[in-house]
Amino acid sequence: DWTDKGAAVIYKIEKNPSSDEQATKIIKKGVKDFNFGRTLGEGSYSTVVAATDRQTLKEYAIKILDKRHIIKEKKVKYVNIEKNTLNRLGDHPGVVSLYYTFQDERSLFYVLDLAANGELLGVLKRLGSFDEECTRYYGGQILDALDYMHTKGIIHRDLKPENILLDEHMRIKLTDFGTAKILDQNEGESQDQARANSFVGTAEYVSPELLTDKAAYKSSDLWAFGCIIYQLLSGRPPFKASNEYQTFQKIVHLDYSFPLGFPAHARDLVSKLLVLDPKDRLTIEDIKKHEFFAGVEWGRAIWKANPPKLR
Ligand code: ADE
Repeated sequence: DWTDKGAAVIYKIEKNPSSDEQATKIIKKGVKDFNFGRTLGEGSYSTVVAATDRQTLKEYAIKILDKRHIIKEKKVKYVNIEKNTLNRLGDHPGVVSLYYTFQDERSLFYVLDLAANGELLGVLKRLGSFDEECTRYYGGQILDALDYMHTKGIIHRDLKPENILLDEHMRIKLTDFGTAKILDQNEGESQDQARANSFVGTAEYVSPELLTDKAAYKSSDLWAFGCIIYQLLSGRPPFKASNEYQTFQKIVHLDYSFPLGFPAHARDLVSKLLVLDPKDRLTIEDIKKHEFFAGVEWGRAIWKANPPKLR
């Protein structure tokens, strides 16, 4: 259902300044409250548009979803997953925040943080590849955001450079939680190998367990993280073929190799993440202690550091 709780803004209006009496009026944001601008991105079920709050002049990215299309394609479940995960994730610098949701006859509207510098993929394509310092900086932020998500019991399941956005300070924000999995209480807290079922993400970043057992774990996001570290340093993902089937074959056979000159510490890290058995991959804690991330001050500090010159 598309009922809308928790998206209302409550204004307290003092009726009479000399008394304590207050009237509370609940005003819900709607389409009329925003000026819509340029298109930021287009997906199969949605369009993301830049918009400005007419009152505060604050800029947002609004994801507009076509209700008829979503119902016809049976994607209602995913639309609700996206809203529920974003609500559960609340406020973290590495995850896009959801501020309001509303709808009109045709569309659903999700009002999100605007990430002024677009997708990490765009920056990577412009540069070809990143040096070790840049990879450590962006990789460290991606890992910290993943750590937060996993702590909240959420598996992303479609982590890739298109879903990693960059804000005005060139800091990352994860987006696109439409295919995330919310683990239930005991799964989220104790069971690191808690299983989430079905759904296949983007071919190049899909974990082998998803292809062979239709299972996704928190460590499936770490497989994707390994693919991303490899891609930032070399310019291309480790498993890539001319079609999805061939890509899947490469993944389940762990058929990849490092290009010449791939940095040694990064090579060690990636080879301990791209491991077929999800139980044998490094954990987030292991990764934080790995030589590749030596010198990184984990915690809130990584969200204050200035980005290195892109190289
Ligand atoms: N493209 C998709 N989502 C976006 C966002 N929140 N900010 C900027 N560009 C986007």
